[in-house]
Amino acid sequence: MPATAVTQTVLRSEEIRPAIGSRVLSSKQELLSGALANDIRELLQQRGVLVFPEVALSDDEQIEFTKTLGKFQPEPRGGDIFKVTLDASQGSSAEYLKGSLYWHLDGTMNDVPILASILSSKKVASWGGNTGFCNTYAAWEQLPEEQKREIDDLRVMHSVWASVFYYEPEPSLAKLKGMQAIGERELPLVWKHRSGRKSLILGCTAHRVLGVEPAKSAEIIVGLREWATSERFSYSHEWKVGDLVMWDNTGTMHRAEAYDLNSGRMLHRTKLAGEESFFE
Ligand SMILES: [Fe+2]
Repeated sequence: MPATAVTQTVLRSEEIRPAIGSRVLSSKQELLSGALANDIRELLQQRGVLVFPEVALSDDEQIEFTKTLGKFQPEPRGGDIFKVTLDASQGSSAEYLKGSLYWHLDGTMNDVPILASILSSKKVASWGGNTGFCNTYAAWEQLPEEQKREIDDLRVMHSVWASVFYYEPEPSLAKLKGMQAIGERELPLVWKHRSGRKSLILGCTAHRVLGVEPAKSAEIIVGLREWATSERFSYSHEWKVGDLVMWDNTGTMHRAEAYDLNSGRMLHRTKLAGEESFFE
């Protein structure tokens, strides 16, 4: 009897660093088919960041690919694609994006933060402009047991206004009040996920640990940020035009690294809607 040929699309990938990042080597057609969607989601949760080197998706293809992976999250001001640039002539959110130069996760002001962001590189900076990522699942998992017990139930006030001082030490009162109007929110320091895994919730909106005196609070936040963003848990992606990079927003932090603001660096972003609250 002749053997029946079974064609199965298999996700091809390789690890970038031991604790974070995988390169996905599957073709554009395989990605758009949706046949790999479950495997991609699984790999994303395990590795934090997935890089699809020079896969060169158009905007429509990026939207299509995003929709194969989960619930597509449109932009709040309309449209499906958000243009990430610090060049004010190219995007209306350049001012807001200044905070993206510091470690953060997206959506700390929401009950349910986005699951993932997907960025496509359209133009690279003449210098700098890598995107840094760190794995906050791995950072939690590798903490000493004693420290885990100490911090497991701490709660942290997250304030967008506090992050203004990172890039503008002496803001006007009007600016401060404008940022304060965005609100603030108490979040657990340790996110207990449905899966049973835990990750750290940190970043430039993490303002103070509740119930702890200010100096100790700063020590906890700075110490954990230093640990989570250390070489061991992090990866800095150097962009090539056409690269697509996706991160699990619920188990990583990210930041843009400094670059030539006049070079027109441009990334196009799509998002997957969140599926899990900070307070599971
Ligand atoms: Fe961000």
